[in-house]
Amino acid sequence: MIAMKGTPAVKGFTIVVAGKGGTGKTLVSSLLVREQRKHGAVLAIDADPDANLPETLGVLAERTVGQAREKVLDYKTRRNETSTITAEQQFEQHLMESIVEEEEFDLLVMGRSEGEGCYCAVNHILRGIIDTQALNYPTVVIDSEAGLEHISRRTARDVDVMLVVTDASARGLNTARRVAELATELRVDFGRLLVLVNKITEQTQKIVEQHAEEAGLELVGFLPFDQQVVENDALGRPIWDLPDDQPVVRAAREVFSKLDAIREEKLVAVSQGAKGSPPSRG
Ligand SMILES: Nc1ncnc2c1ncn2[C@@H]1O[C@H](COP(=O)(O)OP(=O)(O)OP(=O)(O)O)[C@@H](O)[C@H]1O
Ligand SMILES: [Mg+2]
Repeated sequence: MIAMKGTPAVKGFTIVVAGKGGTGKTLVSSLLVREQRKHGAVLAIDADPDANLPETLGVLAERTVGQAREKVLDYKTRRNETSTITAEQQFEQHLMESIVEEEEFDLLVMGRSEGEGCYCAVNHILRGIIDTQALNYPTVVIDSEAGLEHISRRTARDVDVMLVVTDASARGLNTARRVAELATELRVDFGRLLVLVNKITEQTQKIVEQHAEEAGLELVGFLPFDQQVVENDALGRPIWDLPDDQPVVRAAREVFSKLDAIREEKLVAVSQGAKGSPPSRG
C-alpha cells in the first residue's frame, strides 16, 4: 500500500481531465496537481500512453504500470504453480515500484502494455487503482489520452469531476459535447461534468460562451492563452517554474476553487452515510 499522506477530510476526490488532442489536458492536469496540494498530497496518474505529465511535473518516471503487468505475465510463464507468491502480490509489488514519490505528490504512469488484450488489462488496472489506491490521497488527478475511447472503455467511471478541456475551436467544443453525450449513453457516473476553455483570448471568449450555451455545456471557466506557457514548453521547463501570479496560474487557481464546493458536497454526502455505496446504475 501507498502510505497514507496526512489525514484528509475527503478521500480520493478524483478529477479526470479529458478532451480533444492538444487542447491543454496535460497543462491543466499539472496545474491541478500544483493547486490541489492545498488539500494534501495528490496522486497524479498519467493515463495517456504517450505520457508527458512527468516532464510537465518535472519528474522522471522510469517504470510504468504497463511494464509492471508485463513483468508479472513473464513471471507467470516462467514459474510453476507451486510458488508461494501470487501473481497479484507480484503485481502489487511492481506497482509500488512504479510510483514516483515526491514531497507533495506521487505520480503513476500507466504507459502501454505490449501483447494480447493489453489495453483492456491496463484499463482494468487503472480502475482498480482508482478504487483502492486513490483512497490514500485527498485528491487524484488523471491526465487522459485525447478523444473519447477511454470513456467508451469506461476507464473513468465513478469519478467526482470529469473536467473536459477545450480550446476555442468548434471542434474542441464538439468533443466536449460528445463526452457529455457518451457519458449519458453509457451511464457513466461522473459526479460532475465541467468544461474548461483553455488558450482563450479576448476575441474568442464571447464566441465560445455562446457556442457552449447552445450545446448545453456547463463552463467552469477560462484559462488565458499565455505566451510563458509556450516558452516554458519550448525550454522543457516544469509547471513549478511559472510564478504564482502568472496569468494562467492565477486563472487556474480561481477556476479550481470552484471544485472546492464539489469536494464539500462529497464530504457531506460521505458523512451522511453514503460512503462506499456508489449510485446505482440500473
Ligand atoms: N494556456 C495556454 N497558453 C499557451 N499555450 C498553451 C496553453 N495551454 C496549452 N498550451 C500549449 O499547447 C500545447 C498542448 O498542450 P498540452 O500538451 O497540455 O495539451 P494536451 O491536450 O495534453 O495534448 P495531447 O492531446 O497531445 O496530450 C503545448 O505546446 C502547450 O504548451
Ligand atoms: Mg497531454
